[in-house]
Amino acid sequence: MPHSNKLMTLPQERGLQPMYRLILLCLILFIPLAFLYYKQDPERHFRVPSVVHSSTSRVAICLVGGARRFELTGPTILKHVLTVLPEADLFVHSNLDENSFKLSLLRSAPRVTEVRIRRPMVLNETEEQRRLLAAGSSPNGIQGLLQYFDLVEGCLDMIGAQESRYSFKYEWIVRARVDGYWTGPLDMKTFKLGSYVVPEGSSFGGLNDRLGIGNRSFSAVALSRLSLLSRLSSAGFHNLNSESAFNTQLSLFNISSVQLKFPFCILSDRKFGYPPKSAGTPVASISSPGPLSGTYCRPCIPICKGKCLEELGLDSLKWWSWIEWRNGSLELCDARLPWQEDWEEIFDKDAGIAAANARLRVKEMNIDECVQEVEGLKRKAERWNGPDPIEICNFAYHKLNKNLED
Ligand SMILES: *[C@@H]1O[C@H](CO)[C@@H](O)[C@H](O)[C@H]1NC(C)=O
Ligand SMILES: *[C@@H]1O[C@H](CO)[C@@H](O)[C@H](O)[C@H]1NC(C)=O
Ligand SMILES: *[C@@H]1O[C@H](CO)[C@@H](O)[C@H](O)[C@H]1NC(C)=O
Ligand SMILES: *[C@@H]1O[C@H](CO)[C@@H](O)[C@H](O)[C@H]1NC(C)=O
Repeated sequence: MPHSNKLMTLPQERGLQPMYRLILLCLILFIPLAFLYYKQDPERHFRVPSVVHSSTSRVAICLVGGARRFELTGPTILKHVLTVLPEADLFVHSNLDENSFKLSLLRSAPRVTEVRIRRPMVLNETEEQRRLLAAGSSPNGIQGLLQYFDLVEGCLDMIGAQESRYSFKYEWIVRARVDGYWTGPLDMKTFKLGSYVVPEGSSFGGLNDRLGIGNRSFSAVALSRLSLLSRLSSAGFHNLNSESAFNTQLSLFNISSVQLKFPFCILSDRKFGYPPKSAGTPVASISSPGPLSGTYCRPCIPICKGKCLEELGLDSLKWWSWIEWRNGSLELCDARLPWQEDWEEIFDKDAGIAAANARLRVKEMNIDECVQEVEGLKRKAERWNGPDPIEICNFAYHKLNKNLED
């Protein structure tokens, strides 16, 4: 206070004209007010200059899922999604596990609005949900589906809270996965008025639910994966998988979907039969030129490409796990076994130097560096809704040490 008194009295001491005094006073008042305004009105940061359909579109990006291989996918998401939309607000929803610390790579995102890392808990399954959902193609029965739906729906929760906090609405919501491995930029031409946009192929009897782009109201339906289940059930549906539940959900609300090609795949450790037949699933090599539109992938020496693909007859999988293979876009892995021994070398060669460096940095991080990195993300985030960084890193290093001892 004494400090500002001195400033205020300065004009008088110098015997300035009243008008100059007034101007000076205004300036002195203006600076802190401008600062406060800047701090409190985040709207100005949300604007996306003319990339979408209007010059003031506000975009929310929500990343969901486990960070299992995020040291490999994170740098590609940063490069091809987040920095492409530098004014967009980023929301992250993930379960706490030994890989959560890898999310710290997001500290170099242009903006981080909320990070939510929740402790894993078993979700209650109702009789109705057991009838409605098919456990078949998912690794942990319907619990796995419910967990995934809950993570996705959490996006809406965070986004809605941000909107009411600052009294505005997002125009677009992009929902993507933490395990997406991107090989090219997210194209603004994929933001479509009047439709909900999903990747082409990998539809598994419904709609590909590995990425979604839509306006605010369409996204509200598309992301309400858990709360709309009872609605699907009372409409008489049963035995739905994730993709067919998603398709049904959109059609109940008369939302038309559009399928477009996107340059990403889902980097997965899952094993699948080879060659992919009837209800099988092709696994692409990350070396594929793409676009892979969200098919499963891994680093591998491809076992089938070019002529071999013509003979494989992937087109008979059109209703299930089909992906575009013409024009040399696809190179297939034999995914019957775990990732091959020398996958790191293959990855570094296919993904390039920057990605290889990120991989090494995470691999060689010690626990102190880990805490520093996660603290960095926590500081960067406008809101942190998760355990203490020390706990997140302890989780990772405890597990690692245990694995080394085993
Ligand atoms: C599951 O149901 C039990 C008993 O109805 C209840 O006590 C518990 O809070 C529920 N858990 C969740 C996660 O909703
Ligand atoms: C989303 O798009 C649909 C179809 O064009 C339109 O009816 C609806 O009002 C839009 N919602 C918002 C919030 O812009
Ligand atoms: C969808 O369209 C049908 C037929 O036009 C209509 O009866 C129904 O009310 C619509 N549903 C919603 C949620 O708008
Ligand atoms: C293959 O490439 C040609 C030439 O670029 C293009 O016109 C055609 O649409 C592509 N076909 C597929 C199936 O992507």
